[in-house]
Amino acid sequence: MQPMSLGTIAEVVDGRLEQVPDADAIVTGPLVVDSRKVTPGALFVAFDGERADGHDYAAGAVAAGAAGVLGSRPCGAPAVLVSDVLAALAKLTRWQTARMRGVTRIGVTGSSGKTSTKDLFAQVLARAGVTHATAGSQNNEIGVPLTVASCPADARFLVLEMGARGIGHLTYLTDMAPLDVAVVLNVGAAHVGEFGSKEDTAKAKGELPASLTAHGLAVLNADDALVAPMAARTSAQVVFFGRCETAQIRATDVSVDEGGRAAFLLTTPAGQARVQLQLLGEHHVSNALAVAAVAHHSGLAPAEIADALSHAVASTGSRMQRHDRPDGVTVIDDAYNANPDSMAAALRALAAMRAGRRTVAVLGEMRELGAGSAGEHRTVGALAAELGTDIVVAVGDGDAAHTAAGARDGGAQTHLVTNRQAAARLLEDLLRPGDLVIVKASLSAGLQALVKDLVAAPT
Ligand SMILES: Nc1ncnc2c1ncn2[C@@H]1O[C@H](COP(=O)(O)OP(=O)(O)OP(=O)(O)O)[C@@H](O)[C@H]1O
Ligand SMILES: [Mg+2]
Repeated sequence: MQPMSLGTIAEVVDGRLEQVPDADAIVTGPLVVDSRKVTPGALFVAFDGERADGHDYAAGAVAAGAAGVLGSRPCGAPAVLVSDVLAALAKLTRWQTARMRGVTRIGVTGSSGKTSTKDLFAQVLARAGVTHATAGSQNNEIGVPLTVASCPADARFLVLEMGARGIGHLTYLTDMAPLDVAVVLNVGAAHVGEFGSKEDTAKAKGELPASLTAHGLAVLNADDALVAPMAARTSAQVVFFGRCETAQIRATDVSVDEGGRAAFLLTTPAGQARVQLQLLGEHHVSNALAVAAVAHHSGLAPAEIADALSHAVASTGSRMQRHDRPDGVTVIDDAYNANPDSMAAALRALAAMRAGRRTVAVLGEMRELGAGSAGEHRTVGALAAELGTDIVVAVGDGDAAHTAAGARDGGAQTHLVTNRQAAARLLEDLLRPGDLVIVKASLSAGLQALVKDLVAAPT
């Protein structure tokens, strides 16, 4: 973060200083919302949330080294007080981005794969210059300010994961952090319960390219019928990536090995190079192409891009992460997130990796799918069966029953259990050496804990 005095912060956010003995006291960053993560010089941001009130932790945060607090009421610590903390964060972020020099700001959105792609960006663009990217999946109106504030002064690239759950959300983010490059990966059924329809989702995601000036670069998925037309919504230069012939950044000759890793021939206007991804699942080809498009426009040669992509690993946890148990059972942890598209991608990866092994799909529930939820769960179960998954374990006390019904009707051996404890007990009996297991669900289904149990299971 650009060092700023508490006095300047108060001016920028239209706040007032409270209990501040020294308005020149300098905040060196980062912004912190969890008082346990405070480091010296931080600005502790106190939200009055549903579960906890950050103001209760403000004094502790300052005792731990925070230079001050941004909050909405006096809290026994030096503070900049405002009526709306979120709005103040946006103002602060706008001020900081306006003062960045020599930094290319890249926004990444899409229904699936934002975090995976952001992590790929971080590893590939590092070959061209200092790159700072969103930590974890902090892609909302709090995460973007945190990421901007922690950007080092010598960064050449700032990669911002940007999420949306409705119209106007991305515009809100790009207003505070205007982009040079807007990447749209795909439009699927994720969060469709909030958006209304896939078309509404496309409208919302299209705000990212629409935010660019004529100097910007829109990076769009040519293979996605709801993404490609976003070219009409931007005055920026457009580059298409994909497998179809119209894409300037293209993958051909795609294959997937028994480890579930995809290889392909990357074509850019500067030439071709072979890529061998380490990430599991063919769906990462598309994510890799989006990264290659930006890398190409940043001056990296095809061979360098291909080499960086081929060495990149999944750096944020619970996304198709492979654990090999000593008894020969392989557990793939994909329990961070699930929607119909990423479920399908994961089941396809499982099928590609089977190599004669027995496959077990442990499928938790997908959240936020709205009225179509039951049908989407049934479709996922049916797809699991169609792809030849040997055993489907549906976990949950709601729509999991539909997953199970789809799988059973499709002919897969199917079990339905209501919670992760029951799933753990069932799997203890069921699994045998050599099995290939995937665990996938929305985060709130809590199956990350099941993965932990499975990976640690006595053998
Ligand atoms: N292009 C893609 N198409 C379909 N599924 C994908 C794609 N890329 C990644 N996935 C899968 O989607 C799931 C979520 O990936 P990731 O966390 O990268 O997405 P995200 O968009 O950041 O999600 P969130 O909305 O939770 O931030 C993982 O299971 C991942 O393997
Ligand atoms: Mg994410």
